[in-house]
Amino acid sequence: MIKEAIIPLAGLGTRLLPFSKILPKELLPLGNKTILEHILDECLDAGIKKIFLVISKKKKIIKDYLYPDPYLINYLKKKKDNKSIRKLKNLERYKNKIKFIYQNSPKGLGDAVLEAKSAIKEKFFLLVLPDDIIIKENCSKKMINIHNKYLSSVIASKKVKNSEISRYGIIKYTKKINNNLIVKSLIEKPSSKNSPSNYAIIGRYILPTKIFSSLQNTKKGSLGEVQITDAMNHLIYNDNKFLAHIFSGTYLDCGTINGYNNSLKKILI
Ligand code: G1P
Repeated sequence: MIKEAIIPLAGLGTRLLPFSKILPKELLPLGNKTILEHILDECLDAGIKKIFLVISKKKKIIKDYLYPDPYLINYLKKKKDNKSIRKLKNLERYKNKIKFIYQNSPKGLGDAVLEAKSAIKEKFFLLVLPDDIIIKENCSKKMINIHNKYLSSVIASKKVKNSEISRYGIIKYTKKINNNLIVKSLIEKPSSKNSPSNYAIIGRYILPTKIFSSLQNTKKGSLGEVQITDAMNHLIYNDNKFLAHIFSGTYLDCGTINGYNNSLKKILI
């Protein structure tokens, strides 16, 4: 069973500047809750019991958002503003499930995942990227079911246009069975000309703890960052089974300004 999840939140959110300069992009609203709450609710609904949030000192405001503010509650109590109190209390639904881990400098996704190494106790864990919101279907829950059936690693995938290929990790696969691809290898942000397919990796991964040693042995990529994609390739080459699940929920890209604006439109329909 998958009971633990890692959510990396320490990134600088440069694609959403200047809006993410002070406010972490994960705290931007998307419909009736923040981007982060969409992710946390998906995890809880998928049966996750412990969520490790990897943040940086600069993003401590995320902790402030999720933890109670006694001063504010007292003020609202005096004003008998029960409606606002309820809204704040609602955030406490995560209280016993979340734990914060600090990543001191932003060294990329692979490094953020490594920071959570000692926290993970089970053989497999869920990794969710907050740039990628999926609504109308709990993608993590679906992937956990696939993992339970095949005992393999699972990544989420979606077919993208040629013009979008260079923004994603792309999947090379041997076979497509219904909505699942048998992964042969992964390539991080290829040009559309060199891409093995149009199936992109979307930010949901069920990974074995073996990924940690694989990350430790992975060389830094061109941007000086350890890529999770390279570490997964290492596992695939060493005969670890990886399936890519083509999810049927609606994908809301919250990783760029255009994507975020389009996501707002879609969620408000
Ligand atoms: C990361 C992954 C990439 C994946 C993408 C999904 O890229 O490295 O493989 O396709 O998330 O959003 P990033 O968005 O951090 O550049």
